[in-house]
Amino acid sequence: MKYLTLACVATSFSALAASLPTLHIDTANKQPASVYPIGAAGINAKPAGRLFNIDGQVQYFAGSNAWWLAHLSKNSDIDIALKEVANTQYKVLRVWGFGDVNTVPDPTTTDPNKVYFQVLNSTGSYINFGADGLQRLDYVVSSAEKFGVKLVLNFVNNWSDYGGIAAYTTAFGANSTQWFTDETSQTVYKNYIKTLVTRYSKSTAIFAWELANEPRCHGCDSSVVTNWATTISKYIKSLDPDHMVTLGDEGWFAAADGIGDGSYAYSGSEGVDFVANLKISTLDYGTFHLYPNSWGYDYTWGSTWIDEHDAVGAAIGKPVILEEYGTPFPHNHTETERLWQLAVLNSGVAADQIWQFGTYDLSIPASYLGDVNSIYYNETEYKLLGRQHAKEMLAKSV
Ligand SMILES: *[C@@H]1O[C@H](CO)[C@@H](O)[C@H](O)[C@H]1NC(C)=O
Ligand SMILES: *[C@@H]1O[C@H](CO)[C@@H](O)[C@H](O)[C@H]1NC(C)=O
Ligand SMILES: *[C@@H]1O[C@H](CO)[C@@H](O)[C@H](O)[C@H]1NC(C)=O
Ligand SMILES: *[C@@H]1O[C@H](CO)[C@@H](O)[C@H](O)[C@H]1NC(C)=O
Ligand SMILES: *[C@@H]1O[C@H](CO)[C@@H](O)[C@H](O)[C@H]1NC(C)=O
Repeated sequence: MKYLTLACVATSFSALAASLPTLHIDTANKQPASVYPIGAAGINAKPAGRLFNIDGQVQYFAGSNAWWLAHLSKNSDIDIALKEVANTQYKVLRVWGFGDVNTVPDPTTTDPNKVYFQVLNSTGSYINFGADGLQRLDYVVSSAEKFGVKLVLNFVNNWSDYGGIAAYTTAFGANSTQWFTDETSQTVYKNYIKTLVTRYSKSTAIFAWELANEPRCHGCDSSVVTNWATTISKYIKSLDPDHMVTLGDEGWFAAADGIGDGSYAYSGSEGVDFVANLKISTLDYGTFHLYPNSWGYDYTWGSTWIDEHDAVGAAIGKPVILEEYGTPFPHNHTETERLWQLAVLNSGVAADQIWQFGTYDLSIPASYLGDVNSIYYNETEYKLLGRQHAKEMLAKSV
């Protein structure tokens, strides 16, 4: 363990941090190695025009999200989930690579809250390399290699679930809009990135590194997020030039993009400009999400949103992925979501990843992990929205 001096602390927004001469930061270079085998033979996924080359094949694909996968304590549960994902013919699964806490969770807490990767507090950041820490992520990466599933791993949440920017705010003081430029927060965040990227850079199971889940900087000029995304994606590429990097944003347009009717999703009010960000050379592909009910749009507007992002991807010449989409109708998503899957099929969008994969086959109740959007492996709607869609995306000619 090393103590890193932060020359910048005096200028930190945090009075608390400013009163401390040093912050404890576990150095990524001296971390214990993965406890499970990582680095099986294979090739890394990469962009191929507006599509991706996965395991040597250029193809459209479907994937999913299982934010909770690395927050499971049992290896057998991770294997069951990845086996079902592979059986669906999903190529890519997006999993939370973060688990930030301000205090160590009560050890009697159950999954998924028992697992944490980093403690953030006024004295610094402490990475959990233990059995209930990064060893869970080690197993996820190792098992993904075994089942031939690729992973998108992200490094921080905009939302307070599993820590997120709010956990940094509690520890270091800078608020959620200052976080993007706060030196203390960014130093700690970059160290966390370095820890994960150096740990798993040899794994062909990594599809892409992702800066954050749904970064927003409400009311900020979009240059704040664009500058941050430029700096951080460059940093990741300097550590690992051989894996893709993506942003993980919801795909908001800014007024300057001249797209749409100027309403919420097109207004730039969340401080994100999809067009400007897709032009960042160290971001390999664009992401966008789709939750019309939360955003105040009709379900049918979803197809417009898909086509608009496809058109920007075509203009800039990069792949785009509909990375999350969901509707709040438990066990009843077909009527709302099938139209979007058909819109993706009829577009140049490289892939979609439904929010989210659910299963009743684990040792913990499905309700600990699921939400109203989940599509469950054993259910009737899964046959169409899961299996059939994965099949038709792979069958689409390139
Ligand atoms: C911060 O967390 C670390 C790791 O759990 C702990 O050792 C340290 O005492 C904590 N510092 C404060 C001020 O609570
Ligand atoms: C963070 O603090 C700055 C400076 O006081 C302020 O301008 C900004 O609105 C704050 N952001 C949030 C999310 O409170
Ligand atoms: C996520 O982003 C929004 C918009 O900036 C903000 O209101 C919210 O506070 C953020 N979440 C956290 C935990 O900071
Ligand atoms: C199923 O979802 C549709 C929206 O697609 C909704 O109108 C309907 O009420 C839902 N049915 C049930 C039983 O929840
Ligand atoms: C899926 O499994 C759950 C839990 O066992 C059960 O409640 C549900 O009825 C099953 N669904 C189908 C379609 O069999």
